[in-house]
Amino acid sequence: MGDGADGPDGARVILLGPPGAGKGTQAEVLCRRLGVCAISTGEMLREAVAAGSELGVRVREIMASGELVDDATMAEVVRDRLARQDARNGFLLDGYPRTLPQAETLAGILRDAGLSLDAVLLVEVPEDELVRRTLSRGRADDKEGVVRERLRVYREKTAPLIGYYRERGLLHEIDGNRPVEEVTAQVLDLFRAGGIH
Ligand code: AP5
Repeated sequence: MGDGADGPDGARVILLGPPGAGKGTQAEVLCRRLGVCAISTGEMLREAVAAGSELGVRVREIMASGELVDDATMAEVVRDRLARQDARNGFLLDGYPRTLPQAETLAGILRDAGLSLDAVLLVEVPEDELVRRTLSRGRADDKEGVVRERLRVYREKTAPLIGYYRERGLLHEIDGNRPVEEVTAQVLDLFRAGGIH
């Protein structure tokens, strides 16, 4: 943890939750407060699409439809990103893992590095509010049909991670249906209270 930050040294945290829950918004604030880097796989893929790279060309249509990019491609993206210097002092992962195989891949990457996860923060928001937030944002994949598909994919492929991480004693539930600052405060309280080691 850097000087003045509020978390322990090298916190390794996952932000889990449906599209529009506020994972990216919280990651941006929390990374500064905890002194770790924020890693958003959605943002990395959008940058690849904007740059027209080989990866971007491969994932553009998949993202536009609201489906998930395949686990093997995401493993490559995340393995490379976590190997970078700035991830060594901890990270906030926003948007990864999103399937059980991705969770196993992450566990393997960390195990190989002699590291472990500190916490998984599940940001919960009612579905009508998720739809309202995403539609008012207006990103390329924020059209109503696509948002509904992203929510369906979340329930089918990503929601099983809730039980997976609960069983491992890592899950913390965060009420995301409140002003941004209050959500951040709940997370920081968890760190301060020692609920996250
Ligand atoms: P990704 O970018 O990860 O999208 P997502 O999970 O659907 O999440 P969002 O970015 O929509 O929402 P968020 O929870 O970050 O909320 P945000 O802070 O932006 O992924 C996009 C696509 O990439 C996927 O569909 C998939 O195709 C692909 N992909 C990415 N990772 C992948 C992976 N691991 N495997 C396979 N495919 C992958 O906030 C939303 C809005 O609400 C904003 O306007 C914000 O200002 C507002 N807001 C935030 N907090 C609050 C609050 N407390 N109150 C009111 N408004 C708020």
